Amino acid sequence: MSKIKMLTPKAKAPARAGQKTRRARENVAAYAASAATANFVEYPSGRGRIIHGDCLDVLCALPSDEFVLAFTSPPYLNAINYAQHVDKIKGHVERWEREKVSYAEYREFLTTRFGELLRVVKPGGYNIVNIAPVGWNGERIALPFHFVAWMEELGWKFREDIIWEKSIARDRRSGVLLQHPFPGYYYPSLVSEYVLIFQKPATKKDRENIYWNRSAEEKKRNQIDLSDYQGEMSKNVWKIRPLSPQENTHPAPFPLELAERIIKLYSYEGDAVIDIFAGSGQTNLACEKLKRKHLGIEILKEYVAYGLKRLGRSCAKTTRLKFLLKPRSKK
Ligand SMILES: C[S@@+](CC[C@H](N)C(=O)[O-])C[C@H]1O[C@@H](n2cnc3c(N)ncnc32)[C@H](O)[C@@H]1O
Repeated sequence: MSKIKMLTPKAKAPARAGQKTRRARENVAAYAASAATANFVEYPSGRGRIIHGDCLDVLCALPSDEFVLAFTSPPYLNAINYAQHVDKIKGHVERWEREKVSYAEYREFLTTRFGELLRVVKPGGYNIVNIAPVGWNGERIALPFHFVAWMEELGWKFREDIIWEKSIARDRRSGVLLQHPFPGYYYPSLVSEYVLIFQKPATKKDRENIYWNRSAEEKKRNQIDLSDYQGEMSKNVWKIRPLSPQENTHPAPFPLELAERIIKLYSYEGDAVIDIFAGSGQTNLACEKLKRKHLGIEILKEYVAYGLKRLGRSCAKTTRLKFLLKPRSKK
């Protein structure tokens, strides 16, 4: 079994780009039918829910143009084998091994999912992705830069890059430079990541921005406090402390503060926000705090359970409910 299977549907092959799912487009009934065949389960939590399943299956079952904001950090190329990490937590293995997938497979994995995401985000809505260069086969891969080109090919419009400076991250480069303080003695510095901002283009002029068509009251209620976070909200370099393993048992969580900043800047209270690789549920948690509807999708049951626990819910109490989004009325 190829190891990339961990990241793809158990029973079904991923949809090909051409198939780009007309299926299950309009209504909750189609969603429910699709959920049954794709074998994913949804767990309600406050204003939203976490769905256990492959995000491609779930995305294919969602109505078009529903989410104002998508925020996520995708699984790393081959840095973390999430399934083995879970086995380690359970004591089944002593250490986890890196997962090996080809770069072409990884690109296909991401583009099929972010292509389908484009359909479910509202025109003018945002897709924001936390991503960083990766070490791969002894090389340093410029993943964020390739990723921008892949997203543009899919139809996403690139808007901005934010640099997340991990204020107290350990940097091996400084140690290496101490030993070999000579120009050209190369070791990559790992104290920052990118947060890339993309927008879904609108065909109708009046839908080009999520800011348009908001009432004065809504704007006032959602006004951004520019003194927040030492005034960093108006800049594109953000200093945020990364989480320690004691603070979150997921191996690659982003800080809650990162999710909060993004949600405050790119959505309004009551808007629907989606995280297609939800992990420990940080986006769900931040949305709950900031009064947004939220949907997190996560393929590993253990992380779903952990996310729900952090939201004050348990998997055991779950019943299948109607999806949080209403079907589109046909005109
Ligand atoms: C980088 S982590 C996200 C961490 C998350 N931002 C947090 O703060 O906890 C990526 C997550 O994607 C999940 N994942 C991998 N393949 C997936 C898929 N096909 N569908 C949904 N989730 C998937 C992994 O299990 C992992 O938890």
